[in-house]
Amino acid sequence: MRVPVGLKLSVFSLAVMGAYTYFANSIPQIESKPPEELSLEGGNVTPVQLVKAGEQIFHTKGTCEVCHKIGEKGTRAPDLAGVGARAAKRKPGVTAKQYLIEALLDPGAYLVEGYPNIMPRVDKPPIGLNRSELWAIVAFLESLGGAVDVTLDDIPKTAGAAAAGGAAAELKLPGDPRAGEAVFAGKGACIACHKAGKIGASPVGPDLSQIAKIQTPEYIMGKILNPAAMGTVAGYPKGVMPPMFGQTLTAKEYVDLVAFLLTLK
Ligand code: HEC
Ligand code: HEC
Repeated sequence: MRVPVGLKLSVFSLAVMGAYTYFANSIPQIESKPPEELSLEGGNVTPVQLVKAGEQIFHTKGTCEVCHKIGEKGTRAPDLAGVGARAAKRKPGVTAKQYLIEALLDPGAYLVEGYPNIMPRVDKPPIGLNRSELWAIVAFLESLGGAVDVTLDDIPKTAGAAAAGGAAAELKLPGDPRAGEAVFAGKGACIACHKAGKIGASPVGPDLSQIAKIQTPEYIMGKILNPAAMGTVAGYPKGVMPPMFGQTLTAKEYVDLVAFLLTLK
């Protein structure tokens, strides 16, 4: 039986993708460099201190601001001003606290109208917040219009277990980032629509300069092979990102390209 070349390639790409997903998950924790971790377990911390710590995480390690603004309309994600109040009304029978915890640990469970399912779980790489950090950030979100009542016990014991201090950020793919940059600017013509660090300037698609800071390798790989399946970034048109890269790029070009994108942070 003759298998069409395009099909063979995309099947191979999917297998490669699966292999890297496995690889990403199997990286031992000791290989990641120790992050600046906040630990509040067992400590006496006042709500005010907690909110402050959460605000800091929001601006730094959380990298929430790449997508969210507070009191200003961003394009990719909802304005979080007042989220502490509206969180109580998002889902019937669900408290503000429960909703906010779910929004961070299972972002796809409730989608704010008009936005796609692109928010990564924040206790997993690349963001990888630990339990204390989740506790603080929930307190900060509650403080935006609501009452701060979250305790460490409210954060599931399993949360943050897989964080491994940003293993994905340190992940070394066998692809060659320099060759991938050439694919980005050359054969892939990604540059026609995207800026990526020092190269490109087109505003047709999102600026990818920090993509590895906010997105998982699985999302980036999926977006190249099947853009529609990963949801459309808010503020950008549907169906503009070409769907045929799984057929036109060779497996090596694809892996190199992903390796390049994972350097963008
Ligand atoms: C890659 C972009 C991205 C990043 C990074 C991101 N978010 Fe989101 N977030 C979204 C999008 C898109 C939505 C709306 C879709 C949904 O509900 O999942 C959302 C929804 C939310 C909501 C629900 C808002 C509401 O009005 O109900 C909260 C709360 C939230 N994010 C908090 C955070 C925090 C805190 C961080 C950082 C630790 C963060 N997000 C990082 C994209 C992102
Ligand atoms: C014709 C224009 C166009 C070309 C060419 C193109 N893209 Fe896109 N891309 C877009 C648009 C528009 C979006 C946002 C809408 C969406 O999510 O589909 C996007 C979204 C993305 C995203 C998600 C960004 C985010 O913030 O979540 C990634 C990653 C991406 N493109 C990578 C690539 C790569 C890699 C190439 C080259 C192989 C490429 N794109 C080629 C238009 C393009």
